Amino acid sequence: MESSRKARGTKTQEEQWMVENDVGQIYSWVSSIPPNAQSVFLEIRRDNHIQYLMHGLNNLAPSFSTLDANRPWICYWILHSIALLGDSLDGELEHSTIEFLSRCQDPDGGYGGGPGQMPHLATTYAAVNSLITLGGPKSLSSINRVKLRAFLLRMKDASGGFRMHDGGEVDVRACYTAISVASVLNILDDELTQNVGDYILSCQTYEGGIAGEPGSEAHGGYTFCGLAAMILINEVHRLDLPCLIDWVVFRQGVEGGFQGRTNKLVDGCYSFWQGGVAVIVQKLHSVICEQLGLSNVLDSECDSESYHDYETSDISDVEECTVETSCPLGGTCHHRKEDSFADIGVDFISSKRAIAPIFSSMHLQQYLLLCSQEGAGFRDKPGKPRDQYHTCYCLSGLSVCQYCSSADASSPPLARDILGPYPNLLEQLHPLYNLVLDRYYEAHEFFSKF
Ligand code: FPP
Ligand code: ZN
Repeated sequence: MESSRKARGTKTQEEQWMVENDVGQIYSWVSSIPPNAQSVFLEIRRDNHIQYLMHGLNNLAPSFSTLDANRPWICYWILHSIALLGDSLDGELEHSTIEFLSRCQDPDGGYGGGPGQMPHLATTYAAVNSLITLGGPKSLSSINRVKLRAFLLRMKDASGGFRMHDGGEVDVRACYTAISVASVLNILDDELTQNVGDYILSCQTYEGGIAGEPGSEAHGGYTFCGLAAMILINEVHRLDLPCLIDWVVFRQGVEGGFQGRTNKLVDGCYSFWQGGVAVIVQKLHSVICEQLGLSNVLDSECDSESYHDYETSDISDVEECTVETSCPLGGTCHHRKEDSFADIGVDFISSKRAIAPIFSSMHLQQYLLLCSQEGAGFRDKPGKPRDQYHTCYCLSGLSVCQYCSSADASSPPLARDILGPYPNLLEQLHPLYNLVLDRYYEAHEFFSKF
């Protein structure tokens, strides 16, 4: 009697059990076939994904009209995915994409969701990242940096945060998108950064993650935004990082993928939002050791050569920081004052990772390849339809996994760190901006001239 009674739980529990069942069936089926036959299921279907993405750049179904105010986002999701897959657009398509994004640029700065639409911080971030992904002088010089800075200042709120658009909401997304574009375009300064750190700090919750607004629930998307923005403004040491780490590591579930918030379902897109947070904190070892009072451990066990070089290098040509912890890696350093905000992104990516990954890269890759990957495109979870947003953030998460065990940006990943065949290897990305690394370097060099 007892055993035949169907277990019942809350709606949330039942949804979770259904996902675990779907995912469990996929994993058992794959492990039941001979190992040499398994590898085909672990391959990235690169050509199919590229075909699906290219098609979306030219033709979208009528149902996409609901995304009419997000057209630069569609460009970014597609262009960034294609770049991660190591491909690019032909000249004509590249030209028409630059032309289209230029028509989304507001005469008073920033980019709207489509031509003639009001400028918005989220679509500004998407348009700027799209143009950087396309690369080349025509694309990069199409961005009006002077007007863009005026738009960012207009979005600045008295709280220190930013609002998404004129009269719009102030939140952590707005802070990140404003700071990210200002940083990559080399227009970040004290006026823009003033009190943003206070606002973001007020959104870190008792759980350790960061919420969209003060008093809301910690969420992976906002935690990525808050953490990345705090690094770009040199204030990451103000967050409670040990607590943030506790929160993020427990967001990886039995399925191998991440959930966005406590007691919610796994979703492939959090592979980047949460996986990105995990790899970013890998680089913040020194700041975390300081917060834990473990500076001796840092001195004796930290194997980050660049960190030590930084400490012991000839400092005759540099001026010591007035605030000791204002180095992007924290700790005792001698940060060049004249670098101000301009090189934070480069310094961050070129430093070595001091510790091993704090999440299971292999289990996340398994979820992405077997549960999120479709014949063409990626999805949230089994049973959900594919879309360009999930394709972008699943591929971004996969790239994060593939490179998270390499010591630094110049060391290629080892075969043992890639699930599936080595040709699965994607391009490397910069986790603070979610731009393919070589496109980021090109933009950094281009905008350093101004
Ligand atoms: C919850 O959706 C989703 C949010 C509260 C927003 C998530 C924020 C981001 C993804 C970051 C945006 C970043 C930029 C750069 C603009 P849900 O309730 O449907 O999902 P859940 O159940 O997984 O929490
Ligand atoms: Zn999702």
